[in-house]
Amino acid sequence: KAEPPLRIMISGAPASGKGTQCELITKKYDLVHIAAGDLLRAEIASGSENGKRAKEYMEKGQLVPDEIVVMMVKDRLLQPDSQEKGWLLDGYPRSMSQATALKGYGFQPDIFIVLEVPEDILVERVVGRRLDPVTGKIYHLTYSPPETEEIAARLTQRFDDTEEKARLGYSVVLLQDRDKKMDLLYFVTSSWLVGLVNLVKGNAPKQEVFAEIDNALSKLLDSRKATSESL
Ligand code: AP5
Repeated sequence: KAEPPLRIMISGAPASGKGTQCELITKKYDLVHIAAGDLLRAEIASGSENGKRAKEYMEKGQLVPDEIVVMMVKDRLLQPDSQEKGWLLDGYPRSMSQATALKGYGFQPDIFIVLEVPEDILVERVVGRRLDPVTGKIYHLTYSPPETEEIAARLTQRFDDTEEKARLGYSVVLLQDRDKKMDLLYFVTSSWLVGLVNLVKGNAPKQEVFAEIDNALSKLLDSRKATSESL
């Protein structure tokens, strides 16, 4: 019988490398990448009322209220492509209430990956981050420079990528708060019975971080296979 598709949640502070790792994970595991921040930026681009409200919070580096984020994420997870191929949920849940809501809708992740990076490194990453509007690829002026002059010339910066916002954001974005983070990790592991929570050291080079994640995912798939063969 066919194995169910993988369902992964990945979290971490702003600029901890979630988007970068998600690109590598989706390339290898062919999952649907659902980023809460991207869904919100699309909502802003659509000019909707929810988008306007969300922008006010995002500019300050604060969490957007649950009534906007939860429905958006839930609807995307229910799309046929996510159900068939499996999903990689990026930047959600960031609070206990978001985790509780997702569980309440019956979603079950297989693994929760948390990227840990020291704050001074996070600020440097935010300030140097650039986006290619044509391919959607994320670059960093120092750590991941564009491949060609042509790409370099068209790179843009995200509206919320400022040092000021970055510093402000870390005090409020949940995963930098030690106690709340522990509460969330405990909730995810105990109530979803996700056996494996990885606190991957995200300040290593991106290929090393990926190797650690890849190793955890391979183990997960192997153990699933062993279980289904023993049935
Ligand atoms: P979101 O879009 O999720 O942004 P974020 O959390 O600020 O995360 P980023 O996209 O900034 O960073 P990332 O971790 O993907 O890092 P990246 O790979 O780009 O959220 C934006 C806002 O939306 C939030 O502030 C909030 O207001 C709102 N929001 C989102 N989710 C929400 C939710 N669930 N509830 C409520 N509100 C929500 O890497 C960063 C840079 O570092 C890049 O330049 C990259 O090239 C470089 N880099 C990456 N890895 C490495 C490495 N290993 N070594 C060196 N450089 C690296």
